[in-house]
Amino acid sequence: MFKYISKNEIDTNKFAKAISKYIDNGTLISLNGEMGAGKTTFTKMFADALNIQNYVTSPTFSLVNSYNGDKELNHLDLYRIEDESEVESIDIDTYYYPDGITLVEWAERASSYLPKYYIEIKINKVGDTQREFVIEGKNKLENKLIERLEKDENIKY
Ligand SMILES: Nc1ncnc2c1ncn2[C@@H]1O[C@H](COP(=O)(O)OP(=O)(O)O)[C@@H](O)[C@H]1O
Ligand SMILES: [Mg+2]
Repeated sequence: MFKYISKNEIDTNKFAKAISKYIDNGTLISLNGEMGAGKTTFTKMFADALNIQNYVTSPTFSLVNSYNGDKELNHLDLYRIEDESEVESIDIDTYYYPDGITLVEWAERASSYLPKYYIEIKINKVGDTQREFVIEGKNKLENKLIERLEKDENIKY
């Protein structure tokens, strides 16, 4: 398991930058956490790290926004769906088995569409500006990421 305590948005930015270095094309990341935890904020910082200039905001109504930077990034937000089959209104497979990278908020609302292996990042709100990021290490993808994060000097504290 890997835990990162973010004291403020600057720390979250460092963490998003670190993660972006270690995620290969073809990977889906599920961002889990309550409303206001920082899923969208993390995604914006991740997009910045990939040099994406035209990041908008969370795709609440369209379900997905796609961007091209150093890598292709798909950002899904499934908060508003009521039935999981609603994700079929978009070409869900191209986003869930991406050429680039996919970040998903509220992926649990359409959990049967998730690929077998993906990375889950849990975000817990600890205080006003404090957040705890947790990666459990339940598969090879997560464990490989954890190994690299543990060696990253930029997120040592
Ligand atoms: N350390 C931190 N990391 C990320 N966001 C933070 C932090 N401290 C405060 N915030 C604030 O928390 C809010 C997170 O909102 P948002 O990213 O929209 O959450 P979510 O997408 O999970 O609902 C933002 O207003 C952001 O400025
Ligand atoms: Mg959000």
